[in-house]
Amino acid sequence: MNPENNFDEISSVVQEIIFSQKQIENRIHEIGEAINKDYFQKQPIFVGILKGVFFFMADLLRSVSLSCEVDFLAVSNYSADTRKRGVVRLVKDLDIPIENRHVIFVEDVIDTGLTLNYILKNLRERSPLSLEVCVLFNKPSHRLIEIPIRYKGFDLPDRFVVGYGLDHLERFRNLPYLGLLKAEAINPSKKDNEFKPNRGSK
Ligand code: IMP
Ligand code: MG
Repeated sequence: MNPENNFDEISSVVQEIIFSQKQIENRIHEIGEAINKDYFQKQPIFVGILKGVFFFMADLLRSVSLSCEVDFLAVSNYSADTRKRGVVRLVKDLDIPIENRHVIFVEDVIDTGLTLNYILKNLRERSPLSLEVCVLFNKPSHRLIEIPIRYKGFDLPDRFVVGYGLDHLERFRNLPYLGLLKAEAINPSKKDNEFKPNRGSK
């Protein structure tokens, strides 16, 4: 099988490229340099939530020249609409104790802010020396709770995007850029409805 055809298939769900691979790389490098300056002679711990952030974390840390550590949390939602309420259950805790340490919380995207608010509260209870937020993609128009952001990559419009770690039903994380997902890729029945006007039947 020709791998280029495969890439055509996954990239065909993208309506528009919002930020190119190069734009993302350049911005991440700038954030890395800012962190190098701000944490000069400090040894921060970078903390992220699996899985969406692993692309950003990997690229960011390649621009960080400090002596540092990295750790991950994994969370699971209690129910389908939990993301709206922001209540999550920790399914994997940190391996490294963060008490008296400088913590940089790294996130791929902040939407409502509810998930992050919940996690930050949990981390603050562990008495870190400092706790700052570094986010690559910020969706300010959807924010339900204020999140203090120290480092920010890009502001996004209130649209569903994929790539560079962001998924739709676990797919498209491997697109190297950030793209706007076509409406019919989010909801295939939307397209069907145009052709089959029998919406009342189960
Ligand atoms: P919130 O800030 O609590 O609303 O949750 C943010 C989470 O929602 C992120 O970690 C993503 O998993 C997911 N999310 C929000 N917007 C998008 C998007 O446009 N594409 C893919 N995932 C998204
Ligand atoms: Mg995420």
